[in-house]
Amino acid sequence: MDLQLDGKTALVLGASKGLGRAIAVSLGDEGARVITVARSASDAAGRHHIIADLDDPTAPQAIIAAVHELGLSPDILVLNSGGPPTGAAATTTPADFAAVFGRMFNAQLALTQAFLPDMRARGFGWVLAVASTSLITPIPGLVLSNAVRAMLASWCKTLAAEVAADGVTVNLLLPGQIATDRLTSLHSAMAQGSGMTAEQVGTRAKAAIPAGRLGRPEEFGDMATFLASPRASFVTGCAIKVDGGQTATL
Ligand SMILES: NC(=O)c1ccc[n+]([C@@H]2O[C@H](COP(=O)([O-])OP(=O)(O)OC[C@H]3O[C@@H](n4cnc5c(N)ncnc54)[C@H](OP(=O)(O)O)[C@@H]3O)[C@@H](O)[C@H]2O)c1
Repeated sequence: MDLQLDGKTALVLGASKGLGRAIAVSLGDEGARVITVARSASDAAGRHHIIADLDDPTAPQAIIAAVHELGLSPDILVLNSGGPPTGAAATTTPADFAAVFGRMFNAQLALTQAFLPDMRARGFGWVLAVASTSLITPIPGLVLSNAVRAMLASWCKTLAAEVAADGVTVNLLLPGQIATDRLTSLHSAMAQGSGMTAEQVGTRAKAAIPAGRLGRPEEFGDMATFLASPRASFVTGCAIKVDGGQTATL
């Protein structure tokens, strides 16, 4: 299948490693011109890279300016960033929420709103947010991830209906457990005080996945690339799991 991405421009946030990098590589392999964003360098697709910290409230404006300086306007926008720290609902404070809101919500909103008018005027565009299966089954001890992603998801669903008639799709991709640095550090955090080693937490995690293994970042990247392509032009307002069957519900 030709995904018809030749000549399309993609802006991928959080793309120096992990899921964002895998998406950028896959989009690049399929012919898209890829602009990546992260705090550190990225080898993904090796095209244009913008260094920015999405925790910094001035980052979205700097990214928009850098994209315009390249003379580009993204057809594809992948909303992604670093995951939040662990924490219980009973003890996570408003300040803890405020500390992750910039990169997990505000920056994503600002960048989408900046590039959306061009997409709508062209009559096509793809917005894809990397969320988590915690949208369906909240994960114990990860209240920041559970709650902030629920807010982003609801905003995406509302937006999807607003822009569908202009040919712009808005979808969410929900990773289960994909082998990245983030997952390794989560397993270490979960092991602390549990009486288990990080390795034992990892083994238990794998056992909960019907596929019997963690996902590979490339598997996630390829699904993202299809959803962010003209071949998925009638798929919008959806949240799609990439979890090896782990989530118990449809
Ligand atoms: N992996 C999984 O199984 C899984 C499951 C559910 C949800 N998720 C979520 O999916 C997202 C991506 O996960 P991942 O596993 O790919 O994580 P990762 O391996 O830690 O990669 C995160 C990416 O985001 C960038 N980043 C982090 N903080 C940033 C900031 N303040 N500004 C700009 N870029 C920033 C990182 O680059 P720099 O450090 O260079 O900035 C890196 O490129 C996260 O929100 C994570 O919680 C992942």
